[in-house]
Amino acid sequence: MVAKSSKPNRGRFILFCFIVIFFLSVLASINEFRFEGALSNESLVTNSSEEDLRILIAVLTLPDQYLRRHFLRLVYGTQTLIEGAKVVVKFVFCNLTKEEQKVLVALEIMRYNDIIILNCAENMNKGKTSTFFSSLPEMFNETNGPYPPYHYVMKADDDTYVRLNSLVKSLKPLAREDLYYGFVIPCGSMDPFKHYMSGMGFVVSWDIVEWIHGSDIPKKHVVGPEDKVFGDWMRWAKRGKNRYNAKWSMYNYPDPPSVCSHELWNDTIAVHLLKNEKKWIRTLTFFNHTDSLKPSKLYHIS
Ligand SMILES: *[C@@H]1O[C@H](CO)[C@@H](O)[C@H](O)[C@H]1NC(C)=O
Ligand SMILES: *[C@@H]1O[C@H](CO)[C@@H](O)[C@H](O)[C@H]1NC(C)=O
Ligand SMILES: *[C@@H]1O[C@H](CO)[C@@H](O)[C@H](O)[C@H]1NC(C)=O
Ligand SMILES: *[C@@H]1O[C@H](CO)[C@@H](O)[C@H](O)[C@H]1NC(C)=O
Ligand SMILES: *[C@@H]1O[C@H](CO)[C@@H](O)[C@H](O)[C@H]1NC(C)=O
Ligand SMILES: *[C@@H]1O[C@H](CO)[C@@H](O)[C@H](O)[C@H]1NC(C)=O
Repeated sequence: MVAKSSKPNRGRFILFCFIVIFFLSVLASINEFRFEGALSNESLVTNSSEEDLRILIAVLTLPDQYLRRHFLRLVYGTQTLIEGAKVVVKFVFCNLTKEEQKVLVALEIMRYNDIIILNCAENMNKGKTSTFFSSLPEMFNETNGPYPPYHYVMKADDDTYVRLNSLVKSLKPLAREDLYYGFVIPCGSMDPFKHYMSGMGFVVSWDIVEWIHGSDIPKKHVVGPEDKVFGDWMRWAKRGKNRYNAKWSMYNYPDPPSVCSHELWNDTIAVHLLKNEKKWIRTLTFFNHTDSLKPSKLYHIS
């Protein structure tokens, strides 16, 4: 027998409605939150509550390097930034050339939005770096955002491990204008004015980026090793008066030993020439990269 009340309890019914509405709105807000998270176009921004210092790290790579990008997203996305800095990592390459890239790269962009595709044909030493820097001011020219969009732009290789907090700490006290920072070439020199900063990872302030965009000097001289060419512009235009030599906080991986390499040590901003998995693993192990992994009943990693 089903007891049917002929007198519906209005009070209870209204309460019931409120409860349903409450749960629906909780659900909606959770969904909205997920939605925003998934669409976040600055997927690799970490700890940006306070943005005293904004740094763009541009990893120059090739469209087909899917696994490398996957790995670097893990390496940069798992570093917890100290307060007061925002670091955005983007991958940079030239025009796509294969049909499958149009789908695979589009998927990456939809998920991570951390890719910049320049208008150029893929090349190492024929102006990709120059195209990259001169494209930046128009790419980040939103009038409602902060100015400069980034205080510093770092060009990095995809076989370089950058320790973000060490980079931030070393840049914090430095000039925010006319800065040219990195690992001085030749390797044996400690004089930042000697030649140029190695392409493993050099940093310039935003005013230099704007200068590259507007000046004729970079347009006339694009062919040659990208880091050396960059140094030529700086020298010819007498730019980069504020120079900082980050050697030996930046260095090549110790194996094979060379005049540009160094043992892994605490005081490190970047390690370069991580050409295989073994070298990456040893480097990440040395810097205790995964020590902050939280314990859980769901896994055991010993
Ligand atoms: C991020 O994406 C949102 C929504 O698509 C857009 O309104 C906003 O301008 C984007 N911001 C940047 C910095 O690209
Ligand atoms: C931001 O950095 C501070 C340490 O400076 C840390 O305590 C905090 O958990 C970080 N926040 C996030 C969201 O990573
Ligand atoms: C790159 O692609 C764009 C858009 O398809 C095209 O207009 C441009 O000519 C291409 N540039 C080069 C150097 O191939
Ligand atoms: C940004 O640069 C693009 C490309 O040159 C241009 O079309 C756009 O009007 C610029 N926007 C602002 C706000 O300056
Ligand atoms: C390296 O850094 C860690 C963590 O900051 C510290 O505990 C350790 O003493 C340092 N080692 C050396 C040799 O400086
Ligand atoms: C990594 O952890 C070990 C053991 O706690 C410590 O001795 C070492 O200094 C740490 N290294 C760094 C670079 O923090």
